[in-house]
Amino acid sequence: MLVFAKIKSIQEKLKSLKNGTTIGFVPTMGALHEGHLSLVEKAKKENDIVVVSIFVNPTQFDNIEDLINYPKNIDKDLSLLKSAHCDIVFTPTPEEIYANNIQSQSFDFDGLELQMEGKFREGHFNGVGTIVERFFEIVKPHKAYFGEKDFQQLQIVKKLVEKHKISTKIISCPIHREKDGLAMSSRNTRLTKEQRAAAPFIYETLNKAKIQFTTKNASEVSKWVENEFKNHPLFTLEYFEIADEETLLPVETKVSTKNYRAFIAIFAGKVRLIDNISL
Ligand code: PAF
Repeated sequence: MLVFAKIKSIQEKLKSLKNGTTIGFVPTMGALHEGHLSLVEKAKKENDIVVVSIFVNPTQFDNIEDLINYPKNIDKDLSLLKSAHCDIVFTPTPEEIYANNIQSQSFDFDGLELQMEGKFREGHFNGVGTIVERFFEIVKPHKAYFGEKDFQQLQIVKKLVEKHKISTKIISCPIHREKDGLAMSSRNTRLTKEQRAAAPFIYETLNKAKIQFTTKNASEVSKWVENEFKNHPLFTLEYFEIADEETLLPVETKVSTKNYRAFIAIFAGKVRLIDNISL
């Protein structure tokens, strides 16, 4: 496994590959878990080589504390990637990516960026768009792999490639869960023992909401979820929303031809967790 921190060196390596070599790309912010490794495994099956980036992208954080506290463990990450037979790891510094101008570009994702995470994390999707586009320019992957846990991000990246006519195919991968149902996330390592033990409540609530949505309308289900969290001793609900998977607009009247998904964001102390479920 080769590790590059410089754009020039990774590009030289990628240029030296035999013509027609297919590249699968898995962008990450490190603190890798089984969910990431499942993306690497899928990319490995579908491409000749796999490139993984590890980069905690400063421009997608709206909260400096969250950026500072984002879990980091590069040695463990590299050893996990080696075991997963990853071919190339890209570990640039913010300066390498942004030079002296750590700023996002501004994107129009046809309104996808204005819903849910977009309402609560100002500038987040401009940061994601900026870094994903930059990585696609550097790595020029044939396929790139994104987990459905960040479903809004996935739809936005699909929109980015469509609008900017980027040839990379975006592959969506199902949410990886712990045995007790908690969606795998690098942020889970920041939970206290007590919060971690209680965290399956999030997915349990999503599952109950899914059942309710078969007989109730979206606003009734949302009210029920808000109530469930109202008196929770450890978790604060930031939002719960049932939205159209394509447009991410909140559902008003259910239409049988559309696919819906329930989205949730909660705080466990200062740790913010998100999850979603297909309805
Ligand atoms: O999902 C993530 O980990 C990040 O948003 C990504 C796609 C690596 C961009 O920084």
